[in-house]
Amino acid sequence: KRIGILISGRGSNMVSLIEAARLPDYPVEIACVVSNRPDAAGLDRARAEGIPAIAIDHKLFPSREAFEAELDAALRGAGVELVVCAGFMRKMTAGFVESWRDAMLNIHPSLLPSFKGLDTHARALAAGVKVAGCTVHVVRPELDSGPIVAQAAVPVLDGDTEESLAARVLAAEHRLYPHALKLFASGGAVISGERVEADQGLV
Ligand code: GRF
Repeated sequence: KRIGILISGRGSNMVSLIEAARLPDYPVEIACVVSNRPDAAGLDRARAEGIPAIAIDHKLFPSREAFEAELDAALRGAGVELVVCAGFMRKMTAGFVESWRDAMLNIHPSLLPSFKGLDTHARALAAGVKVAGCTVHVVRPELDSGPIVAQAAVPVLDGDTEESLAARVLAAEHRLYPHALKLFASGGAVISGERVEADQGLV
C-alpha cells in the first residue's frame, strides 16, 4: 500500500513509520510526506531519509477547501492509497475526510473515546486516571471519533507531570503506529460499520 504521511511539526511518529516501512515484508511504501507548515522539522527529516517531502502552507489559501484541493492533488499525484496523519494539526472538512473514507488514519494521544481534542495529558492527570495511552483510528468527519484500529496503554505514575506522561505516551505511539498501520494495510483490521474487527488491537 502506498501511503502519504501528513505532519505539522517534528514528525517523530513519521520517523517511526519510515523505519518500520524499511522492514522486510512490511506492507507499506511511503510515497510522500506533506506538511501544512513550511517550518515543520519533519520535512527535513523526511528528505534526509530520501522521502519526497513538500509543504503546502495552509495560510496561503483563501479557504480550507482550497487548501484541501491542493493537498488532495499532491496525494493523488503521488499515487497515495492511504493517508496517515501523524501530528497533523489542521481540522479537515467533512468533504475531504469522506473523499478518503476508510483510507485515512490518525493517531491521538489518549485512550479514545476519553479525552478527545487537545491537552490530553493535562486532562488525564486532572481526571486522576491511572491508565493513559494512545489510539490509532480511522478518520471520520467528527474530530477524534472514528473506528478504533489499535490502542496502547501506559501507567500514570505518582508525580507524573504533563511532560513525563507525554513522553511515556509518545514512546507508546512510536510502537503503536507501525503496528496499527501494518494491521490496517494488510487487511488485518476490517471495518464493519463504525467498529474495526482487529484481534491485535491492544499493543
Ligand atoms: C503526537 O503526540 C500525536 O499523538 C499528536 O501530535 C503529536 C505528534 O508528534 N497528534 P510528532 O509530530 O509525531 O512527533
